[in-house]
Amino acid sequence: MRKTGQVTQREVPVGADQQLISATDPKSRITHCNQVFVEISGYTEDELIGEGHNILRHPDMPQEAFRMLWDRVQSGKPWMGLVKNRCKNGDHYWVDAYVMPVWEGDTIVGYESVRIKTEPAMQRRAERLYARLNKGQKPFSSSDYLQASLPFAGVGALLAIMAQQHHINTVLGRMRSVAAEMETATENTSTRIHQVAERVNHQRADTDTVASAVHEMTATIQDAVVAIERSHEEAEAGVEAINQVSARMESILEAVADIERGTDNISTAASEQEVAANEIAESTIRIAEGAEATYEDMNAGAAQVDAIRRQAAEQASLIDRFSR
Ligand SMILES: Cc1cc2nc3c(=O)[nH]c(=O)nc-3n(C[C@H](O)[C@H](O)[C@H](O)COP(=O)(O)O)c2cc1C
Repeated sequence: MRKTGQVTQREVPVGADQQLISATDPKSRITHCNQVFVEISGYTEDELIGEGHNILRHPDMPQEAFRMLWDRVQSGKPWMGLVKNRCKNGDHYWVDAYVMPVWEGDTIVGYESVRIKTEPAMQRRAERLYARLNKGQKPFSSSDYLQASLPFAGVGALLAIMAQQHHINTVLGRMRSVAAEMETATENTSTRIHQVAERVNHQRADTDTVASAVHEMTATIQDAVVAIERSHEEAEAGVEAINQVSARMESILEAVADIERGTDNISTAASEQEVAANEIAESTIRIAEGAEATYEDMNAGAAQVDAIRRQAAEQASLIDRFSR
């Protein structure tokens, strides 16, 4: 049993020309409900679809009524009765409901229900009866059985005729509802077709814009590809140049190394030369000193020669003198 929310006991009237229609799948989940049903309930259609009808369950409704409803419809028979339904905000509305199974061949494939405004006298009887049932009292005294049984029924010839009438009303109501839905759907479809046509036109314009944008973009991308390719080639040429520069740098470094090595040799040679020059200078000095000494010796020798020559001349003159 579903837990019902707060109630206000404020009644929402149902109009004489209003029909509240709903349908369920075999598991009793709501698959369809018309606009009047939605509006009076206070729920949105989205909130109702997929729910069980007990979303509308009012705590004043006796469980017995729904037990009878299900006994009847599950055995393939219609049920009619008065139902007090709870609106989303806790208010309520009374309806004279007719519920029947929907057949496909021998199989019940769902249930349908049409609800209309209640007769005030019937509603008062139902209020009394449901109150008795909720207090756990006997439903009816034997005298007022037929009268009191009218709020929820399924028995008796009179009820069979009423049920038949209800059945026809349900079918007619459902047909009217479907026709209205089809009309709305047709209107909606034609409006949609119009909107779609407009959208197609817009889209065509958009597509053109997009196409030219795509075209431009493609061209831009093409340019970018060419530029990238060019940059790539330039980059490759740059790498080549850098390789060449680096090769040149290497040979320069080699040359510098050679020069360094040469400089070392030169400086070694220079220092060797310096040593040799020093040695030469020293030898030269020695030679000069030797030459000076030789010169002095020569001078001395020459003076001796002169003296010898003079002595020889003297001796010669002496000889000459003696020999005369
Ligand atoms: C087609 C159809 C329509 C129903 N309409 C209502 C309804 O309007 N209000 C309601 O309380 N129960 C309705 N019921 C009965 C509910 O499915 C459910 O049995 C009832 O609300 C009791 O719920 P509970 O057992 O959770 O207390 C309907 C059932 C069917 C098959």
